[in-house]
Amino acid sequence: MNNNTHIAIVLGTRPEIIKLSPVIRACHQHDIPCTLIHTGQHYSEELDSVFFDQLELPEPDYHLSVGSGSHGEQTGAMLAEIEAVLLDIEPDVVLVQGDTNSVLAGTIAASKLPVEIGHVEAGLRSFDREMPEETNRVLADHVADYLFAPTATSADYLRSEGLDEERIHVTGNTIVDAAQRHSDFAAKKSTVLDELGLAPEEFILLTAHRAENVDDRGRFADLFAGVERAASALGHEVVYPIHPRAQQRLNDFDLTIPDCVQLVDPQDYLDFLELERTASVILTDSGGVQEEACILGVPCVTLRDNTERPETIDVGANRLVGVNPNEIRTGAVEMYERTTEWENPFGNGTASEQILDTVSERSVDGQQVPQ
Ligand code: UD1
Ligand code: UDP
Repeated sequence: MNNNTHIAIVLGTRPEIIKLSPVIRACHQHDIPCTLIHTGQHYSEELDSVFFDQLELPEPDYHLSVGSGSHGEQTGAMLAEIEAVLLDIEPDVVLVQGDTNSVLAGTIAASKLPVEIGHVEAGLRSFDREMPEETNRVLADHVADYLFAPTATSADYLRSEGLDEERIHVTGNTIVDAAQRHSDFAAKKSTVLDELGLAPEEFILLTAHRAENVDDRGRFADLFAGVERAASALGHEVVYPIHPRAQQRLNDFDLTIPDCVQLVDPQDYLDFLELERTASVILTDSGGVQEEACILGVPCVTLRDNTERPETIDVGANRLVGVNPNEIRTGAVEMYERTTEWENPFGNGTASEQILDTVSERSVDGQQVPQ
């Protein structure tokens, strides 16, 4: 590993902070110069600073404080600010992770500058262009120099779009690195079950925050109806750490929450891992939660019409049900009864090391960026 390579890491939301935490930690371990640029897309303490504290991450070097807004407003503001920072610090490589607006802005800003771009979690495809995340990830993949695909399936999607083989690196997903590091610790330290009055394997964990679900009153109402049927079929209660976007919509739509659902604030990483690890079934529309459920060996039911994580379904860890109430109930019962001895398709927890090996060797060997 060459530790003269200056890496800039752009992040802005909860999943990016979690999934890039092992990369940031590895940079520090190997004395690789690393500048952290936080766009400020997420800013509420429970989506942001709580993870910096708990994952023991350094304060961002640059905090752009862009905040919420329409897609264009938010992405445009980030783009201008990230460009200014990159011009100032002149890194060798910019790393972005996932499919948020922060990723799009970071990638576009870097693509017009003499700097290489690494896209962590490249090649995921829902094939649903209605989703803003699909646009973000396709565009990021097509301009990035290093495509860090978590699985062979995602690498195949990249090839099928004509992307050069030499740009593609199958590394596994950094979420494995993060979950492996923290789940035992969560099991020892977290008191969340007692605090919420939950018994292990006798509750369903719910997360729902995707725009296509919670911004549509009918879909959000159907989702709750399905969750209620699932809870009743299993005789389990439901705990729902609610994302601020979903909370906002719940208020706007004046929806009634079923009695079986305990609404709680977004959880910190250790408490959330502990809820995942001990849930009977996880119902979710989150990308990261589908992966973690699969890694932790907990059955998952995905409340979406598609998933860019088909590997979780292929190994038998996940089922796609949309928001039809009967489908949610049937899916939950079927997954609850299923054996959980599947293989983790997301790698062995060395993705961060592989990513750093790749970017720090190539940018120097290829003399693409002057040192
Ligand atoms: C974003 C990502 C989504 C990802 C999610 C992770 C995009 C297009 N979407 O969605 O892919 O799954 O992050 O959680 O990038 N809000 C707060 N506090 C915050 C942040 C947001 O209250 O710290 C509220 C605001 O009302 C805001 C709304 O949540 O308008 C949506 O925030 P935004 O960052 O636009 O999208 P997310 O739904 O968080
Ligand atoms: N997460 C968390 N607390 C919560 C809900 C989720 O720590 O209350 C973590 C979860 O462990 C996973 C990540 O947040 O690593 C997933 O983020 P989110 O669902 O917001 O976004 P997505 O993965 O769908 O983009």
